[in-house]
Parts: sequence; C-alpha cells; structure tokens
Amino acid sequence: MNNQSEPDVSQDFLDAMNLGGPAPEPCIMVVFGASGDLTKRLLIPSLFNLYCDKLLPDSFAILGMAMDAFTTQSFREKMSADVQEYSRRVDFDDAAWANFCDRIHYMKGRFDDRQAFLHLKKFLQALDGRHDTGGNTLFYMATPPSVFGMISTGLEKVGLNHSAEGWRRIIVEKPFGSDLASAQELNREILTYWHESQVYRIDHYLGKETVQNLLAFRFANGMFEPLWNRTHIDHIQITATEQVGVEWRGGYYDQSGVIRDMIQNHLFQVMAYLCMEPPTSFEAEAIRNEKFKLLSAVRIMKHEEVRTHAVRGQYDAGVNLDGSPAKAYRDEPAVDPHSNTETYAAVKLRIDNWRWHGVPIFLRSGKALRTKSTEIMVQFRRAPEFTFRGTPAAGQLEANQLIFRIQPNEGIEIRFLAKRPGPMMHMRKVNMNFEYDEAFVTHPGTGYETMLYDCMHGDPSLFSRSDLVETAWRIVQPILDVWSNEKARDFPNYPFGSWGPKAVFNLPSPDQRRWMARTPQQALEHVPMFAGSGKTMLHAFAMMLKPAVFNAGDEIARYGEEGRELFIIEMGSVDIIDQEGDVVTSLSDGQVFGELSLLMTKKRRASVRAVTYCALYIMEKRDFCKVLMDRPQFAARLMQTARERYNIIVDAQEWMAPDDTD
Ligand code: BG6
Repeated sequence: MNNQSEPDVSQDFLDAMNLGGPAPEPCIMVVFGASGDLTKRLLIPSLFNLYCDKLLPDSFAILGMAMDAFTTQSFREKMSADVQEYSRRVDFDDAAWANFCDRIHYMKGRFDDRQAFLHLKKFLQALDGRHDTGGNTLFYMATPPSVFGMISTGLEKVGLNHSAEGWRRIIVEKPFGSDLASAQELNREILTYWHESQVYRIDHYLGKETVQNLLAFRFANGMFEPLWNRTHIDHIQITATEQVGVEWRGGYYDQSGVIRDMIQNHLFQVMAYLCMEPPTSFEAEAIRNEKFKLLSAVRIMKHEEVRTHAVRGQYDAGVNLDGSPAKAYRDEPAVDPHSNTETYAAVKLRIDNWRWHGVPIFLRSGKALRTKSTEIMVQFRRAPEFTFRGTPAAGQLEANQLIFRIQPNEGIEIRFLAKRPGPMMHMRKVNMNFEYDEAFVTHPGTGYETMLYDCMHGDPSLFSRSDLVETAWRIVQPILDVWSNEKARDFPNYPFGSWGPKAVFNLPSPDQRRWMARTPQQALEHVPMFAGSGKTMLHAFAMMLKPAVFNAGDEIARYGEEGRELFIIEMGSVDIIDQEGDVVTSLSDGQVFGELSLLMTKKRRASVRAVTYCALYIMEKRDFCKVLMDRPQFAARLMQTARERYNIIVDAQEWMAPDDTD
C-alpha cells in the first residue's frame, strides 16, 4: 500500500463526504449477477473507494456469483482490468488495489439450482471463518428483477435469508417493477422471504451529495422554510438531461422508457426531498414517512389529462457532441424498429396539500440531448409593482429564482433584482452563487459509496420503502396506460444532441412560465456581438436568455413585424426570406439573427423560417437594454459595430430608455 499518499487522499474524502464515522461491522457482500456491468462500473469502484478511505471494515470480503465461467483468479483478473477503466480515483494506488482484490471471490452458479445455493452456503461459511465476519451478510441483487424471487427462494431453501448470528440484508436495484401491479407483486414476493427492515431498495440519486444537501438546505437554514409554500413559490422545475443515448442497454430500455427509468424513481425522490414537510427527526423512518406523505399527496392524473399534462419524445438520428453521426433510437441495437418507447418526457404535477396547492411542479428528463445536467429551479412569485409605479422599475420586475445544480458544476444560485447605480430606479437581475468545489474538497465518487456504507451500517434513510415505491408507480400509472395504448404518431420527434421535443417548451405555457435556459453562456460566447465580453458580463446577458424550439417549416419571425428580439441558433438551420418570398440566405449553428432589433426599434426586413429542427436562445430587447445601461463601454463598442457592419447610427437614448419601461 502506498503509505505516502494514502493519508491525504483519505482525509480529503472524509472531509468531502463528511463521513468521519466508524467503519461498519465486519461483513461479506455477495453480489448476484457479478459478471454484469453494474459490478465493474459502479460496485467495485465504489467499494474500492470506501476501502482506500478506511470506510470498510477490516474483516470484509466480496463474493460474486453468476452463470459465467470464471474462477476466483480469473474474476480478480477481470476486475483488475476493469477497475483501471472505471475507477475515478485521482491517484490510483496499485498496492491498495492488490490488497483489496485479495478479498474478491467468485463462484459460478445458476439461480434456479439448489446445489449452487448449498455451495454458496459452504463458501460463505469458509469466508466467515477466514475473515471472522460474525455471519453478517449483505446480498446485492445486481440482476434483473425477474430473478429476485428465484434468488430469494434459493437463499431461503438453504436458510441464508435469516440468521440467529449476525444480520442479513438485501440490496435490490431498480427497476423495482415496471408498473404498479408488478411492483406490488414484486414487493409481495420479496416480503415473503425478507422482513421490510432487511430490504434496501437502492436509488443512486440519493447517494448524490447535492441531493442529500437538499435536506440540509431546507432544514438547517432558518431563512428558507417560511418561504417554502404556495404563498411565495410560483412553480418548481426539476430537470435531468443526458447526452448519451441508450448505448448498449436497448433491450432493457425499450421495455422501460424514461418515465420508468428516471422520473418514477430519481426525479420523484428529488421532488420528495424538495417538497416534503420537515421530518420530526433525522431517523430513517421519520424521513421516509414524510416522503411517503408527499408522494401520496400528488394528484393522480385522469387519463384525459395526460394529453395536457405530459409530453413525450423519442430521439431521431442526429450528431454527437464531437460532430460524428448518432443513430436514431429505433436503429439502436435491441430496440424495436417501430418502438413506441419514450426517450424524453415532461410532466406537470400538482400536490394536493396546504403547502403546495396551486403550485405546479414540472419534471423533465431525456436521453440524447445537448447537455448532461440535473437541476432544480424554484421560482418565487413576482413582487407587486405598485411600489415602483411611475419609475422605470415598474416594467422591470422579475420573479426571484433559486437554482440547485445537482450535477455538474454542483452548486446553488439565487437570482434576484438589484437597483442599478444611478439617479433612476432601474432594476436588473443579479445573482449570488455557491459552488461546492470552492467551499469543500469534493471527491469524484460514484454515488454508490454512501449507499453501500449506510446499508452496511443498517441505516435505511437513503433507501426506498415498499409503500414509497408503490405510491410512485401510482402517480405515473395513468401516463403509462395512455402512452402504451396510443402510438405516438410524431415519433421520432427530436434529433440526437438537441433540446428535446418542441411540445416540451409549451408545457409550462410560455406566456406565464418558461423552462430555465441551460448553459446559455456558452452559446453567447460564440456570438460576434458579444465577443470579448468578460465573464461577469456574459453571465449578466446569459441570465436574460430564453430557450425556444421550432420544428422544420415553422415561421420564427415575420416580415414587417416590429422586431423586439435577437435569436441565437444553438442548433439547426433557418432561411431568411425577403418580401417576395425568396430565400436571401441561410443561417445555422452559432449564427445570430435579429440583432438589429436589439440596436433599434425597426420593422423586420425579412421573414425567418426553420429549415430543420431549431433550438434557439431568444434575448428580448428590454432585457438587453437593462444590461447595456450598466456597460457604457460595451454600448459604445456596439454602436461602433452597428456603424461599421450595418451602416446605421444607433440612438443611445433608445437603449437607455427602452420603450416598455413606462
Ligand atoms: C440510471 C438510469 O438509473 O440513471 C440510466 O437507468 C441513467 O438510464 C442514469 O443514465 C443517470 O444517472 P446519473 O447519475 O448519470 O444522472
């Protein structure tokens, strides 16, 4: 073991995870389905992280069981190769790995074979004797749910599910059922062999520090709780987007879809933490009771409401970030070429309790999108304008927003209005930002470390309970019913690498509420007009951008209309069409149109039509002017550009007193 570097790394991790607690009791972890992806990608790397950070018991062993023909030796060799690929440790310690690897064992066996379970029992007795683990055993079901029952029967037949000596626990992976009926059946089956207190249903989102921090944020800070209700909050958005498609998991995913894969579990867990009542203590049951109450209060959609409260999408061919072509979902391996499975979904939920009555909660998630990010946005009600009547500020009021960046760029941001310096009462949106990696030493873990550690300690706080799981299914069941009965006629409806289907952007009713724009700053950096602007200034402009999506053939701007906004093409292409209907030019990714509208009030001299799917950022003139007022040097540069590029003289007064600020 590398004794030089280990103490530092270890201390960092303890600080970062705030897990200075004791190592769990000695135990053996049996992994069913050990030759699969989960073991190599997540379980072994996270156990190794725990080992390096002294958060595993000294007496600890891993026993993998699967049908593949490995020996302990060949399995160790495979894990040693895989860990190089999947471990995210900054300084990989070879000596520590060698010691850890000695604790890994393997046995080949079928889950329907009684002899295999007898063999397993003997193997466990031998390991128990060697490692002195006191009979404590954790069974990890890294298998499809269809065999949970079979494995449990096998364990029961040889008396391994209960023990007079030590504890026996099982961890089950999602998907926990595929609908309400199958989840109830699965719970019934599992609870035939195990007591609820032995069952740990894993949801790796709860292993994320930023998700756990929602509890700290809400209940360790006195200033937010009084505001956390329908009197002050207008609506909530929870977004989890991914860049990857279904990759090698088409077989599983085509039976699942994003409602089952992400929304019913991960996003509901996040919503429960964000919206539940304060628990009476930090005990697992106190927290789980509140989560259950919250989910039970979510209004169940009527079938006819699914059309207005839920939107689905499926990705088409497109491009990866590096510009290489990406396949349509229906062309992915093991996916039905006529698949009706959704790879994107957005839903609007209502919570029927006093705290949240009338506050819509919007959730969205999808694969094959432009960015990977999980974020929560809490939008407060706008302040009344009467105080500022007669000042420019009356037309400048905007709602405050609280943003939790769950991943990446983990942090919390508050956006509010401030008076801009000067004799007039002008308002502008500004922000306060907290970044995890500035405040803490963060550790690139997998998210499974805390979950495994807690389970070994017998702390089920971060795991789901049977009633919670069933309630979550009850909420999505009408959506699943309607979507499986009605084939989506517009599938595929968004390109790989885009922002998702157009209909998602209409779900919150854009005239009242809009999805928050994602990573708009990067888009601005490419716009020539903003070139050379500093970070703070770009951020100020970026906060003003609004996302919009158009499908091929949609009219984006019309000739003769008064232009009031600039459009930045994040992706897609548009035709600029003159009065006669002739295409004057075409624009695409990274290009801008309508910039004259920011410089002066003018009627549009061309129409703009989407040629392909287009993802655009819109900056409205009134927002642009607000920022400009504080940036005289930038304003001067813009005037210069306008003179050179468009041969127009811009009236500075127009910027300083935009027409709708009366
Ligand atoms: C898993 C889903 O539960 O979560 C995957 O099955 C998804 O499809 C993953 O990619 C997302 O997790 P994370 O931590 O990358 O947001």
